[in-house]
Amino acid sequence: MKYLVLSDIHGNLEALRAVLAHAARKRRDAVLFLGDAVGYGAAPNQVVERMRDLGGTMIAVRGNHDRVVLDPGQGAVFFNSHARRAAAWSEQMLTQPNRRFLEGVPIGPRDVEEGLAICHGSPIDEDEYLFTEVEAKEAFSASSARVTFFGHSHIPCMFEYHAAGGRESIVGVLLRGSRVVIDLDPSRRYMINPGSVGQPRDRDPRAAYGMYDSAVGRFTLYRVPYDVESSRRRILAAGLPPILGDRLIHGA
Ligand SMILES: [Fe+2]
Repeated sequence: MKYLVLSDIHGNLEALRAVLAHAARKRRDAVLFLGDAVGYGAAPNQVVERMRDLGGTMIAVRGNHDRVVLDPGQGAVFFNSHARRAAAWSEQMLTQPNRRFLEGVPIGPRDVEEGLAICHGSPIDEDEYLFTEVEAKEAFSASSARVTFFGHSHIPCMFEYHAAGGRESIVGVLLRGSRVVIDLDPSRRYMINPGSVGQPRDRDPRAAYGMYDSAVGRFTLYRVPYDVESSRRRILAAGLPPILGDRLIHGA
């Protein structure tokens, strides 16, 4: 199966448009979505509508921002003031059909096919960040999937787990570049973050997404330039905190 892997769109229509245009000619059997369609960005309805219009099979898990936008009582206390304001604004803006679509997206982790799973933060908890090998070790032991795609940190990266001779090792790497191709070793396990479509935080402002071919075990990460200034202006025009637009320029 060939999958388009999207995560953390965060109401950024311009970034999503650029990613879908870039991926349009790549064959796919299904879309994997790792959560956070909304929150931060100023086009929550347009983003959800584009997702609904994608057609075909979408296997999705909700993100923590999707959860808080649908019900501000569910964890907004953990958000900083900008995230909280954006979530409250998004909650006000969402149309009923778009709200119903998001309400239908289940909490992860979720199995996709034999040996392949998706989650938002980690397989243990949708709010948990996987930054380090120590955190990844716990995540590997909580899951039996050979390959897991996760989001939430907005940092494209990969953790590789290898067990041999009674010893286990985990190596984490950041994935940087316009196109990064990784041929997965069938004897090892992986946690892979395809980065964020709509709010990259690795100091590369380009939108990020992945393609995964499970038949050959190949993951490819792409970075796509988009109209950052339009996204930023949309955030300012909505009266959202300017920092939410400014950070898009720096990818931070
Ligand atoms: Fe996110």
